[in-house]
Amino acid sequence: MTAELLNGREIAKDYRAGLQSEVEKLKSQGIVPNLTVVIVGNDGASLSYVRSKNKAAEKIGMESSIVHLDEDTSEEEVLATVEKLNNDDKVNGILVQVPLPDQVDENKVLEAIAPHKDVDGFSPINIGRLYTGQRTFVPCTPLGVMELLKHTGSLEGKTVAVVGRSHIVGQPVAKLLTDQNATVTLMHSRTQNMVEQLKNFDVVVSAVGKPGLITGADLKEGAIVIDVGNTVVDEKLVGDVDFESAKEVASYITPVPGGVGPLTITMVLNNTLLAAKWHNEDK
Ligand code: GUN
Repeated sequence: MTAELLNGREIAKDYRAGLQSEVEKLKSQGIVPNLTVVIVGNDGASLSYVRSKNKAAEKIGMESSIVHLDEDTSEEEVLATVEKLNNDDKVNGILVQVPLPDQVDENKVLEAIAPHKDVDGFSPINIGRLYTGQRTFVPCTPLGVMELLKHTGSLEGKTVAVVGRSHIVGQPVAKLLTDQNATVTLMHSRTQNMVEQLKNFDVVVSAVGKPGLITGADLKEGAIVIDVGNTVVDEKLVGDVDFESAKEVASYITPVPGGVGPLTITMVLNNTLLAAKWHNEDK
């Protein structure tokens, strides 16, 4: 079998076209969605992500700005920046790019973002809302994974292995899949014979950042493979899955780059639009 490619760039393009028309509608009512991204320091990959988010927001008609703070900015200063954005009525979505430098407590900063502006869905209140089935901002990469899976059919009754248990990908993805009536196994670094077990699963979502972890020989015939891994090797972005061998076995597969990545950025825009809408409705 040669798998069908889940082309994240194409899927994201269609999704963003839908968002753009919603932005236009809001603008005709005098509401201009605004995304403000905070970055501390000069990490090349982080700067590039932040610029992509900013550009993508502007491209669909949103307002967007970047607050770029020095590498040696104190925790107090970062918290003061967040507080100022919390109180700025023009700002709908606040995103603080992580990781933050060592002198800044990441949890403190994420907790300081007003929950109604936390478009990453990383604040404890929004995580709690997600797990209790309330209206919230769902983290962007998990939302992107679910959007890709929508293009493969129903998940009801399927067995899914989620590899990696991070707070921002593995755990929320497991929750969202469960909500779609899939049967989910959350695997991690202490799972015994992990790779050997993968042959039992209809769907594999890998989010660990280990290039070549999963090959075609490890997969069930016809499996759906979503590769969330993004590791830079020799200046190239690579996933967790050996694409060439996996595509011969899978029914659907995401490439890296061009799979989950474009959907993550799209969902930042999706959540910013929701923030603007909800802010207006809840006034
Ligand atoms: N760093 C890597 N991915 C992300 C993300 O989705 N959001 C934020 N804020 N920082 C990140």
